Amino acid sequence: MWLPCGCTSKAIVTSSACPVFKSYFRVFGRWKCNVAAFMPEAAGFEGVKDFSSLQEFSVSNSESFWAAAARSRLSWIRPFHTVQHCDLSRGKIKWFEGGQLNVSVNCLDRHVHTSPERVALIWERDEPGSEVKVTYRELLETTCRLGNLLRRRGVKKGDCVTIYMPPCPLAVASMLACARIGAAHNVVFAGFSAEALAERIRDAESSTVITVNQGVRAGKVTELKRTVDAAVQDCPTVQQVLVAMRTENPVAMTAKDVDMEEEMLKEDVVCEPAAMNSEDVLFLLYTSGSTGKPKGVVHTQAGYLLYAALTHRYVFSYQDGDVFGCVADIGWITGHSYSVYGPLANGGTTVLFESTPIYPDPGRYWEMVQRLKINQFYGAPTAIRLLLKYGDQWVQKYDRSTLKTLGSVGEPINTEAWEWYYRVVGDGRCPVVDTWWQTETGGICITPRPSDPDAEIVPGMAMRPFFGIKPILMDTKGKVVTSNPASGALCIAKPWPGMARSIHNNHQRFIETYCQPHPGYFFTGDGAYRSKEGYYQITGRLDDVINVSGHRIGTAEIEDVVNQCNAVAESAVIGYSHDIKGQGVYAFVVLKKGVDDQEADLSQQLNIMVSKKIAKYACPDFIQFVQRLPKTRSGKIMRRVLRKVVERDLNGLGDLSTLDDPSTVQEIIQGHRELFSKQKPS
Ligand code: WTA
Repeated sequence: MWLPCGCTSKAIVTSSACPVFKSYFRVFGRWKCNVAAFMPEAAGFEGVKDFSSLQEFSVSNSESFWAAAARSRLSWIRPFHTVQHCDLSRGKIKWFEGGQLNVSVNCLDRHVHTSPERVALIWERDEPGSEVKVTYRELLETTCRLGNLLRRRGVKKGDCVTIYMPPCPLAVASMLACARIGAAHNVVFAGFSAEALAERIRDAESSTVITVNQGVRAGKVTELKRTVDAAVQDCPTVQQVLVAMRTENPVAMTAKDVDMEEEMLKEDVVCEPAAMNSEDVLFLLYTSGSTGKPKGVVHTQAGYLLYAALTHRYVFSYQDGDVFGCVADIGWITGHSYSVYGPLANGGTTVLFESTPIYPDPGRYWEMVQRLKINQFYGAPTAIRLLLKYGDQWVQKYDRSTLKTLGSVGEPINTEAWEWYYRVVGDGRCPVVDTWWQTETGGICITPRPSDPDAEIVPGMAMRPFFGIKPILMDTKGKVVTSNPASGALCIAKPWPGMARSIHNNHQRFIETYCQPHPGYFFTGDGAYRSKEGYYQITGRLDDVINVSGHRIGTAEIEDVVNQCNAVAESAVIGYSHDIKGQGVYAFVVLKKGVDDQEADLSQQLNIMVSKKIAKYACPDFIQFVQRLPKTRSGKIMRRVLRKVVERDLNGLGDLSTLDDPSTVQEIIQGHRELFSKQKPS
């Protein structure tokens, strides 16, 4: 459902609230965007004098805009001859054809050339105060050793290497080593189970996996190598597993295992970079869709890197020397674009966060901001909501004066969390950028900044399209809505360099999911509201994908697992509004006739299955056993009805006349009341 904007309060975020200060700077023209100083390429864009004309230019002259940015911001081995060659209706997207480059050279060598001792990575290890700094020179050398090792062990251009590691410098070096030798990488979030990992390894057809002996998170050790061992048993393609040591505890090594660090020491610190075509694959990243099978979203070299770099620079006002703190895990697209590729392409210093927001206490983020002198902090609303509940004192204890921009990503940020982030964490000084984007978009697409320095920022709204992005709203009849205010299905009208190119091994699914619903447009799967001022607010998914603590999961994926239980006849999983997690998981389960297991035992069994086959975060908070599910006469489950029951919006149940047997709804309402009265969500 598309909801109208609920936000009323507005915060005008400017560089200073002090009138004297403001007038002093006005003398020097600070309050207008000096466009060529802001973006040097703009000096060559005809008619571009201020920020809004630059934005317009980037959309109406997108080829000139992106060509100039690609020439000035990337180092090419061979220049491109064609800026773009796209046909959205056919799912054909190509940028910078004819060009050749190497992503690792762009992220490392060119910065080593100018500032070898600049810190590239700050590894914020789980144990507070034990951070490790890695310079550009060190990261290049490590990457080269690993690139040479992979080459020596037979990894070739075009192969795909699966990486199952927590955020750490060797994980980044692994990604960049793949890029250096022309292999694609497939990073799998290290919270995924062995079965989920195996499914992704098989689909990516990886013969090499890189992992660590153990992970450490919130003081707890996780047996990552053991998970890989279990996964690899079901992956006939895997020939070798490179194992790095995160802890000192030895793990059992099998015939396929290679001691990665020991072998790397034998390698040279120089590794010839492969000349990659702009449209060669850089990585696959699996994400959930509305079917049970996760899709391997394909991103390619030049366009992705350029888009990650440009968004990182402009959305966060990243300046040379700043310390960028994106706390997402590298297993998600946010970690790829804003912990690794964007900051490194810009020669930045980026934090790799291994811990959790409340370890060892709820001051962790802010103590880290103080200790590492973080300038931009980028996190998820779910963590902000959690920390808000612990109170302001955990924030105020620490010096946050280095902060300049605060970012939010992955799910809607409610007004209360936004206000707290802005007023308490940022002391009312820092713009909060609520950034909307997806695994498929490669980088941020809708965001309050960049915009004029004193342009308003409305809490809880992503607001403005980034350069080159033209969002549109579609009504239910498939017509573009041009008036304001309006709601509709969010589409993007023009291709942009960062967008996904395909779904691995299933280009048809790519076309069907993103290109066919609204021919000629990229369909995002999200609904949005556009205010009378033209600002966008994301209202949520239009498909059966839910967002639990900022992690995307298809309800069909969970149903597939639940249905595998012998006692289960069928199930329907829906998302419901959850205070901290944003959305929680609610499963309606119909048991097979004659099953006499205790419901409590079955609930436990189902939770174990989901955590074993997918991951812990996908486990249902509530499991309601029902006699029947509400279905249409044609047998389709009416999820809308289930959602309304769980939201306790019984007046909003709508037309039930198409139900096969409307009495099911009463049973479900009754069962829901009983469940709620006796069970607290996990
Ligand atoms: C949701 C994460 C509201 C949205 C980068 C999208 C958001 C999905 C926001 C993508 C936001 C992301 N406000 N919703 N600022 N950012 N989403 O692929 O539903 O893990 O389609 O990428 O998260 O999730 P993904």
